[in-house]
Amino acid sequence: MSSLEIRGITVRYGRFTAVDGVDLDVPDGTVTGLVGESGSGKSTLGRAVVGLAPVTAGRILVDGKDMGRRPRRGPVQLVFQDPYSSLDPRMPIGASVAEALPRDGRGEVARYLEMVGIDPGRASATPDALSGGQRQRVALARALAARPGVLVADEITSALDVSVQGAVLNLLRELQRELGFAMLFISHNLAVVRYLADTVAVMDAGRLVECGPVDDVLERPSHDLTRALLSCVPTLETSP
Ligand SMILES: Nc1ncnc2c1ncn2[C@@H]1O[C@H](COP(=O)(O)OP(=O)(O)O)[C@@H](O)[C@H]1O
Ligand SMILES: [Mg+2]
Repeated sequence: MSSLEIRGITVRYGRFTAVDGVDLDVPDGTVTGLVGESGSGKSTLGRAVVGLAPVTAGRILVDGKDMGRRPRRGPVQLVFQDPYSSLDPRMPIGASVAEALPRDGRGEVARYLEMVGIDPGRASATPDALSGGQRQRVALARALAARPGVLVADEITSALDVSVQGAVLNLLRELQRELGFAMLFISHNLAVVRYLADTVAVMDAGRLVECGPVDDVLERPSHDLTRALLSCVPTLETSP
């Protein structure tokens, strides 16, 4: 298992600085929630961690090892809000999971589908035959099949019906505890972050403005933005 260290990461799009010198740690086997208003740079930071954003300064370390400017995808996996960003709509879901498995693990498709609550008998189905929640489960299976030490989850339940969000979050929490990966969990929903994360980091205009144990920060926020985010916390339904 692995830890994630983000050191002075800066991402610029032209003259616009989307992420500005961010330092953040996700220790081994823990979950750090990343919150902030829309446009604050959360997704850009998540993409920088997996080498999908143009990093102009700083370093990403996984297990103490520098990932370089174009990190290999294996040790760090990203699951997006839109499952079609990681799933080919024409590819059977079993093949999508198989593609992510290491060479010696090609027989494990059924195990990974089962792990996320998808009947392995549906391995030949394409994503469009599944519900939104099932598609997100398959995206998770594909990410976990690469056996990452670090998972970046970017608003992975935001596009789902409230009625299925809780089940997917429960699953993610169980899998994180069972497999022990470190997770950067990006969400605009503080109730969800409180449910999943050990630590929370608050982002504003590309900078981290507050970071600490989730209960401390949410009970005694020291920054106005955190207070503002707290004042409009939606409710979370986690009963299956
Ligand atoms: N590829 C890109 N090119 C130019 N600007 C971008 C790009 N991606 C994101 N941005 C800008 O960077 C800022 C942060 O975006 P993003 O990381 O998606 O925020 P969040 O996920 O917190 O909503 C926004 O102002 C957005 O418009
Ligand atoms: Mg985003």
